[in-house]
Amino acid sequence: MQKKVDFLVIGSGIAGLSFAIKVADHGKVCIVTKDKVEETATKYAQGGIAAVMYPPDTHEKHIRDTLIAGDDLNNEEIVRITITESTDRVQELIDWGTEFDKEASGKYELAKEGGHSEFRVLHHKDSTGAEIVRALVKKAQNHPNIEILENHFAIEVLTQHQLGMGVSRGTAGIQCYGAYVLSPDSGEVMTILSKITLLATGGAGNVYNTTTNPDIATGDGVAMAFRAKGIIENMEFVQFHPTSLYNANERPSFLITEALRGFGAILKTRKGVEFMQKYDERESLAPRDIVARAIDTEMKLSGDEYVYLDARHLNKNDLIEHFPTIYAKCLTIGIDITKDMIPVVPAAHYMCGGIKVDKNARSSIENLFASGECASTGLHGANRLASNSLLESAVFSHRAAMDALEKVKSISYCEKIPDWDAEGTVLNEEMILITQTTRELQSIMSNYVGIVRSDLRLQRALDRLEIIYRETEELYNKSIISVQICELRNLINIAYLIIKMAQLRKESRGLHYSIDYPEKAPMKMNSRR
Ligand code: FAD
Ligand code: SIN
Repeated sequence: MQKKVDFLVIGSGIAGLSFAIKVADHGKVCIVTKDKVEETATKYAQGGIAAVMYPPDTHEKHIRDTLIAGDDLNNEEIVRITITESTDRVQELIDWGTEFDKEASGKYELAKEGGHSEFRVLHHKDSTGAEIVRALVKKAQNHPNIEILENHFAIEVLTQHQLGMGVSRGTAGIQCYGAYVLSPDSGEVMTILSKITLLATGGAGNVYNTTTNPDIATGDGVAMAFRAKGIIENMEFVQFHPTSLYNANERPSFLITEALRGFGAILKTRKGVEFMQKYDERESLAPRDIVARAIDTEMKLSGDEYVYLDARHLNKNDLIEHFPTIYAKCLTIGIDITKDMIPVVPAAHYMCGGIKVDKNARSSIENLFASGECASTGLHGANRLASNSLLESAVFSHRAAMDALEKVKSISYCEKIPDWDAEGTVLNEEMILITQTTRELQSIMSNYVGIVRSDLRLQRALDRLEIIYRETEELYNKSIISVQICELRNLINIAYLIIKMAQLRKESRGLHYSIDYPEKAPMKMNSRR
């Protein structure tokens, strides 16, 4: 089956939906999403969206905080663009129906998180993402030009490769013509031809054992762009959130928002002793890379499996009022956050790198844009400042939409793309092998490519990865296509990119810390753009 649309959007988080809403008045839009439309990382965002709203905050302060967190690897032009456009994009979310919490005065109530020098995080209690998704989904579903295909899985983006022409990485002129999309219910692979394609596929936290990310976060967009010979960068910078709830065997890990530390909660060892003062003068509110590494060190020193976050000294009513989701969740496992300390542990949370894009979210492949967590705009550098991710998605989906609208009229469909070729494939009766290999991969990444790395560990990871890469490619080539095999293949690509880029970075910077190169290298060693 073939389908033709002006705009193909892969992903229904903030990046995909906000782009779709902006282009929908100008052409036919198809949003492909591999689960229910709401099931995205966006939905689970707790803390909020950072934007400069009122004095004493200024754009310069937010820019400075972003650059400090990014450890000198940010692209300063992109940081300036993002932050100066922050207020307009937040206003747009409000105009589309998002409700952020307000003070009695009518001003928005702003929270503070690690690395922020001012209160600037707009939020909806501790479930900001769910509120944003509610508003955007409603808006998208009501637009007559937007079709949403739920439970549809994008397998590959289409380029000259599908026409039998060789393409090689980094060369000019690779073009995107759409994507092959699997409908798992029917087993059919559709060819969706598009003039413009946006990858908005989110993160890849599931490449690790413990992650705050929902199951959908398997790095599909980055892996597809990589296989299509697009340029990928900064994958070594994997952000571990310092405080996920310690609750053995729960996957994904439940997040304890950084806004709780902004509200006054304090990190302590299992013996109840504060420790952050040993690591940074900003203590519990230092940027995430520093806090996650400090917790990792304390756990290694004590042998404990978690540390505590203590909110007991805070006003009980205020605490429940501001953090109702966390309060309710903790109660389900017997923890009353107004009386008990919360056991927390770092978990893989955010991918700072991804598909390299320019200031209009264009990837290195023509007519292929990327926005949101799968993109690398240059905003985050070596470590993302809290609550800058929803903002980045809104800003770059807007820029992508404006740019795409200029281009779309001059692009025609590529009619010669062949149908998906399933010849020679058979039903895989050993699906359990895919589950087992996924667990193996996650252990490799958590054991050898975690918060603290070394040359030895990275090489071990690569050696082991090569074996499961070979086995999985063999299985993929002979199996009837399934979401499970595609996701595993994508996660293996992601693991490869993280390990290879970590091996090339002979220094410690931001989220990448190596015991073999504990210092930061002079800037000429780096790829600051
Ligand atoms: P997502 O919202 O993850 O959406 C990805 C979409 O792509 C989904 O619809 C998925 O189904 C689809 N998809 C993926 N692969 C395929 C495929 N092969 N085929 C079809 N569809 C596909 N950031 C902040 O700024 N503030 C916060 O407070 C905050 N809190 C967070 C809390 C949690 C628990 C988590 C996990 C993240 C948090 N983040 C926060 C990060 C932020 O939520 C994400 O980076 C952001 O929402 C990513 O948006 P996105 O649109 O790029 O991707
Ligand atoms: C949080 O609420 O702590 C998460 C914020 C983020 O990831 O930006």
